[in-house]
Amino acid sequence: MSKVTVVGAGKYGSTTAQRVAEMDIVDTVVMTDIVEGLPEGLALDMNQSRPLEGFETEIVGSSSGYKETEGSDVVVITAGLPRKPGMSRMDLLETNAKIVGAVTKEIVAYSPDTVIVVVSNPLDEMTALCREVSGLDHARVIGQAGMLDSARFATFIAWEFGVPAARVEALTLGSHGDTMVPVPSMCTVDGRPLLDVATPEQLDRLVQRTRDGGAEVVGLLKTGSAYYAPSSAAAAMVRAVVEDTDTVMPVCAWVNGEYGIEGVYLGVPARIGVGGVKAIEQYAISDTELEDLREAAEAVRVKQADVAQLVAGL
Ligand code: LAC
Repeated sequence: MSKVTVVGAGKYGSTTAQRVAEMDIVDTVVMTDIVEGLPEGLALDMNQSRPLEGFETEIVGSSSGYKETEGSDVVVITAGLPRKPGMSRMDLLETNAKIVGAVTKEIVAYSPDTVIVVVSNPLDEMTALCREVSGLDHARVIGQAGMLDSARFATFIAWEFGVPAARVEALTLGSHGDTMVPVPSMCTVDGRPLLDVATPEQLDRLVQRTRDGGAEVVGLLKTGSAYYAPSSAAAAMVRAVVEDTDTVMPVCAWVNGEYGIEGVYLGVPARIGVGGVKAIEQYAISDTELEDLREAAEAVRVKQADVAQLVAGL
């Protein structure tokens, strides 16, 4: 028996539930929301796609509390407000802290040994908050950001050089925000180092578009933020935990000594499997990239200290 819960049946949550269900790797996907009928209706609709898509995972919708989530192996928290045009992810801090805090309490009450993947924004802060409120081991609380930012970076690189997306390796670390750290030294295009094929001007442009990747989508949509690529990223993390794949993924994880950084949630390459983060991988990134990563750590450390205060007030 295996169960994945997705909290929040908005676009991000429902798309994540659908992607995980279509992977056909768990018995049940539970989707919860506070809007009466919304998760039930979406779940009914998704279940009816099973004969067409050929998967057996059952989708259960619940708008009446968390009982159905009991014994979840993995929980994806998408609850909270998305950005509107012109808003930074940080503008969501106080509102989403209350929502994510309340959800986390319910989740651990029913699934005390679960692994939580946080995707609510501001991402690094909400991941730290969820860990604090849950009391779970740090390894069991992970944020989704680097998988998405790296996928955006890879997409832009693929377009720039006219190669298939699958032939690009791209990596971003740091925060899911202004101090995102794209890592060109670890990127390849069709097997060649990105730094050999890209001019400095091209590189700057690709990096900037990646940094602004979420805002570019928000600006076009006007209501709500991205969800197709974000849900792919979250679902990939769920698969790594459920199938215990030990895949190294850029995620927001607790860093305690690696890269010379102490005690902070930050985007780093982590080996993901059953139980969450098994190890933080220390890549041989360039000196400038390491400096940027340490700067990002200090920036999120300050914000995460604010989170500690918010937690105290919950
Ligand atoms: C984004 C939001 C989901 O980057 O953070 O699209």
